[in-house]
Amino acid sequence: MVASLDGFIARRDGRVDWLETSDEFVGGDTMDPEFVEAFLKTIDCYVMGSRTYETALRFEAQGFGWWYGDKPTFVLTSRELPRTRETVEFYSGDLARFVNGRLRPTYRNIWFVGGGMVSTECLRLGLANDVRYSILPILIGDGIPFFERLDRDIDLHLAEVKALQERRGGSSLRGT
Ligand SMILES: NC(=O)c1ccc[n+]([C@@H]2O[C@H](COP(=O)([O-])OP(=O)(O)OC[C@H]3O[C@@H](n4cnc5c(N)ncnc54)[C@H](OP(=O)(O)O)[C@@H]3O)[C@@H](O)[C@H]2O)c1
Repeated sequence: MVASLDGFIARRDGRVDWLETSDEFVGGDTMDPEFVEAFLKTIDCYVMGSRTYETALRFEAQGFGWWYGDKPTFVLTSRELPRTRETVEFYSGDLARFVNGRLRPTYRNIWFVGGGMVSTECLRLGLANDVRYSILPILIGDGIPFFERLDRDIDLHLAEVKALQERRGGSSLRGT
């Protein structure tokens, strides 16, 4: 996910308007569209929390499109939510059982889109092999944190740090 420097992925009310920053880091790498396209092809399916799904639906309704292409997209929810396309499937229940029992046998690269609640569960249950944490050069003071409170420490290995020229990542920190 993309976070503000003070660690938030959305404002308390869910808005992500601050993701549009005009800042540029001249010494940073660029990410060309071909690279992004090739990278997205490596993702086999998406998993997201219902609030993130609702944001995605709002963006789509505003004309920004559906960001997950034709890849299977699993939405975690205990509610009845609109199913706007065939690729969307809903799940409610034990996340570890779902990921290990249902998704892993079929999909190699499972991308957890977020939000904060789901990413925290993912780490807490030991389901993540790789964390991609992008930081934007902005402070928003309050919001939904990248990780909610955890009940223990989780040691990670820092695998890569990359500074980008502009949005689509800010400074990206990747650890496993
Ligand atoms: N900056 C970024 O890169 C980024 C990335 C992703 C999301 N976001 C933002 O993050 C915000 C949402 O984050 P969030 O932490 O509030 O919510 P979230 O993680 O997107 O969704 C949490 C909800 O998913 C449902 N859920 C989770 N696990 C479940 C399970 N095992 N079984 C059934 N339902 C389950 C529950 O809702 P119900 O059961 O009530 O439906 C829960 O309240 C949005 O504003 C979104 O735009 C930002």
